[in-house]
Amino acid sequence: MLVIVKDSYDEISREAAQLIVDRLRRKPNLVLGLATGSTPLGLYKELIRIHKEEGLDFSRVTTFNLDEYVGLRPTHDQSYQYFMRENLFRHLNIPPSQTYVPDGMAYDIDAFCEWYEAEIAKHGGVDVQLLGIGANGHIAFNEPGSSLGSRTRVKTLTDKTRQDNARFVGSPEEVPKYALTMGVGTILEAKEILLMANGAGKADAIKAAVEGPITSQCPASVIQLHRKTYVIVTRDAAAKLAGSYPGTWKSSIMLDR
Ligand code: PGA
Repeated sequence: MLVIVKDSYDEISREAAQLIVDRLRRKPNLVLGLATGSTPLGLYKELIRIHKEEGLDFSRVTTFNLDEYVGLRPTHDQSYQYFMRENLFRHLNIPPSQTYVPDGMAYDIDAFCEWYEAEIAKHGGVDVQLLGIGANGHIAFNEPGSSLGSRTRVKTLTDKTRQDNARFVGSPEEVPKYALTMGVGTILEAKEILLMANGAGKADAIKAAVEGPITSQCPASVIQLHRKTYVIVTRDAAAKLAGSYPGTWKSSIMLDR
């Protein structure tokens, strides 16, 4: 695991973007695992800027999103489909058929989840999986207590997550109760993981994920089992870490060789 601590949100966004751009330049048909939430927005803006200003080509990229609320149509402004379209996809030259987001309106949820996993496998697996982290240590909608071997499935959201996500909607009651989410086991199969965290509100979760025991009580702690994870965090999100960590992912490329 490589922990990279930066002074500002802009810096973690640029650092994460540089890593993705590097991987995309080496593999134009990159398979990207994507996340929603406030944390990746700066990274998405940076990717859009690089696409527009430097012509970075996304035409052969395939994306798989981590999760989606159950019961929201793709046109609903709180759906993750909508979020991805507005904040990333429509600004890039990526064909919509290559952007997968779990279908929160699926009639047969179990069959859909199996199909989603099969599509990921058909594409050769996720090359780079982007992750945020919940204040409670969740990754995607794998809340504390989620099986560390879990696959894509439906999950009940905790009150804490519904409260956290209410800032986008208005009130916790308006946040759907269920979500489809890639499992912890699904996430762990990505070739590289890029976990981002911004702000003091994430400091306990980052401490538990990076330096705590591996436990389903903090699903993000599974990154300790993964062979190639980058944790890119602001200084305040890293404030509770005991270790000292480097400033850039580039050093890891040297180490890999
Ligand atoms: P945030 O959410 O990026 O909006 O903080 C992250 C998460 O809950 O996984």
